[in-house]
Amino acid sequence: SAQPLRLTVIGTGYLGATHAICMAVLGFEVLGIDVSQEKVDRLNAGEVPFFEPGLPEQLAKALDSGRLRFSTDYAEAGAFGDLHFLCVGTPQKPGSDAADMTYVDSAVTSLAPYLDRRALVVGKSTVPVGTAARLTALLQRLAPAGEQVELAWNPEFLREGYAVEDTLRPDRLVFGTSSAWAEEQLRAAFAPVIEGGTPVVVTDLPTAELVKVAANSFLATKISYINAMAEVCEATGADVHDLAAALAYDDRIGGRFLKPGLGFGGGCLPKDIRAFAHRAEELGVGQAVAFLHEVDAINRRRRARTVDLVRELAGGSLEGVRVAALGAAFKPNSDDIRDAPALDVSVSLRRAGAIVRVYDPQAMDNARRSYPELDYADSTMEAAQDADVVVLLTEWNEFREIEPDALAAVTAGRGIVDGRHALDPAAWRAAGWTYRALGRP
Ligand code: UDX
Repeated sequence: SAQPLRLTVIGTGYLGATHAICMAVLGFEVLGIDVSQEKVDRLNAGEVPFFEPGLPEQLAKALDSGRLRFSTDYAEAGAFGDLHFLCVGTPQKPGSDAADMTYVDSAVTSLAPYLDRRALVVGKSTVPVGTAARLTALLQRLAPAGEQVELAWNPEFLREGYAVEDTLRPDRLVFGTSSAWAEEQLRAAFAPVIEGGTPVVVTDLPTAELVKVAANSFLATKISYINAMAEVCEATGADVHDLAAALAYDDRIGGRFLKPGLGFGGGCLPKDIRAFAHRAEELGVGQAVAFLHEVDAINRRRRARTVDLVRELAGGSLEGVRVAALGAAFKPNSDDIRDAPALDVSVSLRRAGAIVRVYDPQAMDNARRSYPELDYADSTMEAAQDADVVVLLTEWNEFREIEPDALAAVTAGRGIVDGRHALDPAAWRAAGWTYRALGRP
């Protein structure tokens, strides 16, 4: 039988580190490449440079197996790999809605000169449709093996907090290929996942690129849809929480991604819908996805409305008001603060004159580094000490479990804004709190 495939994973951020670790656990020999010596050293030492449940255990397993190591050397990557997975980031370009392709382009430009035999480069990063065609030309021009080097696209759908589970047992695999050989290579690389029952959609390159942004746009739209209903509810005295529960019983709608509240943030959804709308405009089909601007606008209004609710509870002005802000991460079980609604609200509260003390179970270091102007506390109770208003911004379990009486014992006021519909209004009101939530009476 053929030699097992050797894989490189270029970029060891969130996506790449997870992919490299899981592929080694599945039995492949894997070399992870990153330009950051510090990241490489930490990973080789068994340390995951971000918070992700279960990933440190998988890294230990992978390193013990002897099948995984990390390096900064592209020459090593070229010599080692049969398949090269591109997992570098495509953040939003500063001052633009477009995706910043600098890291993708530099990864391809750095790797290509070392591709001197048949190899498959597999893009996993989220990119504007059309990127694969452009990169194919670039690769074949720069690689000594020329047209023997092919490109495929294999979008990644993993959620932070469930990265290991989503990588080992994804809902589906999408292979965008331009030859039968490329499809064979991908089927071999994902054989253990496919054997586990994961369906595979094989398609062309542009479709594979589009699947990712189409999926994230749909998810963002679903969240903004229910948040739009929350705005209507507020104008009518209706309750969006009950409305969502009733909608969710319709299987065609379903309850997932129908949770109203402060809306979406993170390193994917916000920048992906903006980059998609931008790319569609370039392609002359901007009108087809013009609704994504509205999805974005609804989402931004949720943050502003949360600030308003705190102001209302504070009696009309935020000047000098002490606010306990519970949560900083863009969602629970993550230390990621990229485009975090929670920190956006805290910064706005501070700008409006409030004294904001933030506590988050995991994201404190990241928050402190990026927002040194905010105050921080080491626990819920410390954040809430003498607070006039409490605002729940990220729905960590430890916040759901707060005892209304225990919190009231340390705060100055009894007003709480539940930005994530995480608390039981009846229990809080019974304990004497004024409870407010977006879209609820
Ligand atoms: C998302 C996609 O789910 C994933 O498939 C893709 O690969 C990357 O982007 P992630 O950013 O990790 O994953 O977070 P996700 O769990 O999807 O949550 C995104 C945001 O939406 C969070 O800020 C969350 O709080 C918010 N959200 C989610 C809601 O406001 N309401 C919901 O009902 C669901």
